[in-house]
Amino acid sequence: MADTPSPRIEPYHAPPGTRDVLPPESARWQALIRLFAGIVEAAGYGLVQSPMFEEIGVFRRMGEGTDVVRKEMYDFLDKGDRHLALRPEGTASVVRAFVQHRPPTPWKTWYAAPSFRYERPQAGRYRQHHQLGVEAIGSADPDLDVEVIALLSGFYERIGLGQVDLLVNSMGTPTDRRAYLDRLRSFLVDHLDDLAPDDREKVEQHPMRVLDSKRPATVAVTESAPRITDHLSDEAVAQFERVQAGLRALGIAFRVEPRLVRGLDYYTHTTFEFQSGALDAAQNTIGGGGRYDGLVESLGGPATPGIGFGTGIERVLLTCDAEGAFPPPVKPLDVFVVDVTGGDVARDLTAVLRRAGLRADRAFDGRSMKSQMKAADRSGAGFVAIVGEDERASGTVTLRDLRGGQGQHAVPADDLVANLNARLADPPAPRETP
Ligand code: HAM
Repeated sequence: MADTPSPRIEPYHAPPGTRDVLPPESARWQALIRLFAGIVEAAGYGLVQSPMFEEIGVFRRMGEGTDVVRKEMYDFLDKGDRHLALRPEGTASVVRAFVQHRPPTPWKTWYAAPSFRYERPQAGRYRQHHQLGVEAIGSADPDLDVEVIALLSGFYERIGLGQVDLLVNSMGTPTDRRAYLDRLRSFLVDHLDDLAPDDREKVEQHPMRVLDSKRPATVAVTESAPRITDHLSDEAVAQFERVQAGLRALGIAFRVEPRLVRGLDYYTHTTFEFQSGALDAAQNTIGGGGRYDGLVESLGGPATPGIGFGTGIERVLLTCDAEGAFPPPVKPLDVFVVDVTGGDVARDLTAVLRRAGLRADRAFDGRSMKSQMKAADRSGAGFVAIVGEDERASGTVTLRDLRGGQGQHAVPADDLVANLNARLADPPAPRETP
């Protein structure tokens, strides 16, 4: 029977707005998470791992005024007809977990979590992004605001970012916020015709979002809009002043930005953003957060204050690229096993080496000596352990130092681990210069 050609299969691509993180970039990614975990765990924050999806109501409580909730959620009915949504951010899930489990307060938590928003993809804006964040629930002490801001500021500093500005604002108490909203709405109504057409429809329902707008016509209007910082209650002013005094005491530079309202509706009192001077202005916010003193209650818990931040791993790494900071870590293998006797020795020896805690790899598919040596070189291993017929017959391996000009040695196979450990403890010999 004649062979019929199989139909050509078009290769699939990752969906728009998503990306694969491959080696060596993934090692940088891991190192960033490890650094973050070290900083926040040293300040008493514990990891929370929550589901990637929740009942949609959990996220709706964040406020119907936000694009994240109204337009960008990945929601679906599961096979049991539950209306669920993929997490668009980390805070609501952690607050839902707090309400469900009622841990002792203050409950200080951190997460490294994928988040999903159906946004228009562009550099630094993805449909799946990843946030490193903290949430501290159960204390209204403004010194906790300072702690949270200092953690994020310290993280950027440890990565080596230099061009980062901290902007802070206060949204006041929920009563302050409501009164300000009314004042802002009537100002915007008075200037409706001067606003960019796309922003006019937000005035009635979501006046705060107009302050977020980057459209020049709108910015020209909002420059003279009432400022929330001029309409705060005494309680909110005292809270905000204590936060600013704390930042000054810790030597953290900041600027008060009364138009900083952030994209989410749950904020009260302190809000803050870190912006990078090294990124394009459209996507220059690398991290942000604030207080959400009403969110626990709105998710069915007792009135409990909370504060936290989220910082996008992708955006942080983009900033690192722009500033030449935080290169991928180099973690070469200790040893690469080259076996030209059929593969049994490579199979058994790599297992022994790995069990002893060494970083070891080998070639597969019975390649030639030349090809295996090439693979050893490419792997960046410090040593290559070569087994040919002679070595196999005498129970030895030929250990070659690839780090410097130390030549090679015959080592009994049984002594390989001890021998390698001793050599690895020695600094590599300097490479010979011709
Ligand atoms: P957010 O400002 O919406 O706040 O997001 C926090 C950070 O996540 C942003 O500063 C940015 O670095 C990153 N990010 C957000 N959306 C995208 C995207 N589409 N693509 C790439 N990166 C993105 C929150 O999500 C709050 N939950 C922060 C918070 C925690 N507030 C209190 N606690």
